Amino acid sequence: MKGLVLSGGKGTRLYPLTYTKAKQLIPVANKPVLFRVIEAIRDAGITEIGVVVGDTASEVKEAVGRGKRWGVNITYIQQSTPSGLAHAVKESREFLGDDRFVMFLGDNCIQGGISPLIEQFGRSDWNAQIVLTRVPDPSQFGVAELDDEGRIVRLVEKPKEPRSNLALVGIYMFDQSIWEAIAHIKPSWRGELEITDAIQYLVEHGYRVFPYIHRGWWIDTGKRSDMLDANRLVLEELEHRIDGFVDKDSQVTGKVTVEQGAEIINSVIRGPAIIGEHARVVNSYVGPFTAIYHHTEIEDSEIEHSIVLENSSIVSIPHRIEDSLIGRNVKIHRSPIKPKAYKLMLGDNSDVGIL
Ligand code: DAU
Repeated sequence: MKGLVLSGGKGTRLYPLTYTKAKQLIPVANKPVLFRVIEAIRDAGITEIGVVVGDTASEVKEAVGRGKRWGVNITYIQQSTPSGLAHAVKESREFLGDDRFVMFLGDNCIQGGISPLIEQFGRSDWNAQIVLTRVPDPSQFGVAELDDEGRIVRLVEKPKEPRSNLALVGIYMFDQSIWEAIAHIKPSWRGELEITDAIQYLVEHGYRVFPYIHRGWWIDTGKRSDMLDANRLVLEELEHRIDGFVDKDSQVTGKVTVEQGAEIINSVIRGPAIIGEHARVVNSYVGPFTAIYHHTEIEDSEIEHSIVLENSSIVSIPHRIEDSLIGRNVKIHRSPIKPKAYKLMLGDNSDVGIL
């Protein structure tokens, strides 16, 4: 079996974290979502992985490389235009050949691995397997309608009036029948060749499509409101370890990772939390559900339930920072320069809550 990861798309910026156009590279619990996807496929024993890239090809290639660090072989597939998920599969034909494959959207984060699912599909004679989960807002996703016996009746992409609350999770398994399906579908109202329509074709034409219902959590990180949630959920599941330096005046409790080269000095870290490589936490408090990325400094400050990206510094802030997403190279500090006032330099679409 081969793996196909979709990391193309339109490259619209994920505000407020505008430093990267590739939303798949935004870290959750200090690791880009795309890396988590590659690892999930590798853990299922698949070593030939195609990565579909678009406008952000150079960023993705630079971050991912050829796959050596995961023991896999990465082949890049340049999608000519971001014309939909089925279009991305179509343009991966040469890489995929007639093999069975698992396709994973590069911005999806799911609880647990996908190994059992892939093994199940590998042993079966199904033509396709899809993953569904119950969501409160189905009209934002592909939606499946099942009959009383749990068989798929219909699949509709982002329906205005959803017939169920079962959304299509961004993990799909196919055999070669998908090529016939893709050849027969037409672009949708949003001008894209939808994988949902291709699967609907399989259902209509009597192919065996098995719906697996996922009961754990799942987050489509393409939406920024979900990033803190994804961070919280992944931090709870991580296997934690202390590789960095924690001095004797510090207290580290709960599930905490301190990466190599990081220093915790006279501080309290309460997990689940992760402190990235060469980050420094001095005279500070880092509370649950916080990810501090590499080379960031927290000094004389308190922070909780937040994500701080690389090379930032938070120094001498009198109130606790909570529920915050802080980008890279950001400086938050007290200013001695008069007049006494907030002095801000904020990017487009910033959102600041002040006491
Ligand atoms: O997240 C699950 C949802 O993903 C499903 O419920 C929907 O049925 C499915 O259509 C898809 O919907 P989205 O609108 O969220 O897809 P999005 O445009 O965000 O693209 C998903 C990933 O695929 C993302 O990593 C970018 C990549 N992509 C997207 C397009 C349109 C490509 O590589 N090429 C493309 O042409």
